[in-house]
Amino acid sequence: MMRERRTRWLVLSLVGLALMSCLCSVKAENTLQPPVKLIWHYYKLNTTCPDAETYIKHQVKLFWQKDKSITAKFLRLLSADCLSKNGCDGSILLDGRNSEKNAPQNQGLEGFEEIDKIKIVLEDRCPGVVSCTDILNLATRDAAHLAGAPSYPVYTGRRDCLRTSIDAVDFPSPSISWQEGLAYFESKSLDVLDMATLLGAHSMGKTHCSYIKDRLYNFNGTKKPDPTMNKSLLKELQKKCPKKSKTNPTVNLTPKSGNDYQFTGLYYSKILSKKAVLGIDQQLRFGDDTMQIAQEFAPKSGFEDFRRSFALSMSRMGNIKVLTGKDGEIRRNCRRRN
Ligand SMILES: *[C@@H]1O[C@H](CO)[C@@H](O)[C@H](O)[C@H]1NC(C)=O
Ligand SMILES: *[C@@H]1O[C@H](CO)[C@@H](O)[C@H](O)[C@H]1NC(C)=O
Ligand SMILES: *[C@@H]1O[C@H](CO)[C@@H](O)[C@H](O)[C@H]1NC(C)=O
Repeated sequence: MMRERRTRWLVLSLVGLALMSCLCSVKAENTLQPPVKLIWHYYKLNTTCPDAETYIKHQVKLFWQKDKSITAKFLRLLSADCLSKNGCDGSILLDGRNSEKNAPQNQGLEGFEEIDKIKIVLEDRCPGVVSCTDILNLATRDAAHLAGAPSYPVYTGRRDCLRTSIDAVDFPSPSISWQEGLAYFESKSLDVLDMATLLGAHSMGKTHCSYIKDRLYNFNGTKKPDPTMNKSLLKELQKKCPKKSKTNPTVNLTPKSGNDYQFTGLYYSKILSKKAVLGIDQQLRFGDDTMQIAQEFAPKSGFEDFRRSFALSMSRMGNIKVLTGKDGEIRRNCRRRN
């Protein structure tokens, strides 16, 4: 399976611009809906906003210089958008009581103000042209690149959805088994390599104690901690996340790279040494394929493979159920429909 994906990557780097059609001709385990609807540098080719990508990159750089956590925020925001039932359509950005951002799984999502700021710049330069969904995809790529990820190609021309609903959020609990995790990713037409790769974004960022308390005190209903967690990590996390606490503090997902928001492969070494923080992360140790992937990405020599796989999986995630043509609209304000 890994070899198949590598071949795909090779073909892809050779052909470059034809990336999406390549993906379709090289048979994937799970074929994503043909993303041929999106276009490489859409706003430039369309001549409606030739410098859109430059404006976005510039804004993202300013955010990043002020606060490096922007990378983790955008990665989570984009995943929340693309992995909801209606796909990459900017629905996560819409305000409203019944909107996706108010689902319990999306508690603590950030980055909305930054997307608004980029949108204001673009509305000033090219009014009514660049979709909020494309802004989110491009900005996430640029923020990830600043943190050390490759600058992967983001195809554009997505349009924004007209409505959102809290019911569209089917993000599972982070305490599920790897089988349940895989079933979820497969329901989005992503595969096991996408899952193991995209979760690697947990090399940075934080999580709220509420997402790991079950692992620390009552794993899967056993009233005991998760037996697969390293004991010294367990003690440390129990101290930071007391059983009875009215507050809900945060802990770093991957302590070393987490603080300075660096994109690294440390996440995979943590899995191998039983020091992953979220349940689903540690679960990667238990699937044959996922364990093999973690073993490949963990060593220094595997970092390049991880970077390549990350580029490809981010592209695949960004193509889930996109709206193009006459569907949806180009929102003028990302928080509400026109
Ligand atoms: C450019 O964008 C406009 C507005 O969205 C659209 O009507 C037109 O078909 C696009 N042209 C191309 C070449 O994609
Ligand atoms: C929790 O227990 C259920 C039922 O025994 C099992 O199917 C599931 O895989 C377990 N989850 C984890 C994370 O081990
Ligand atoms: C858990 O982590 C500590 C600290 O890094 C290490 O010394 C210890 O050997 C680990 N325990 C196990 C069982 O791997």
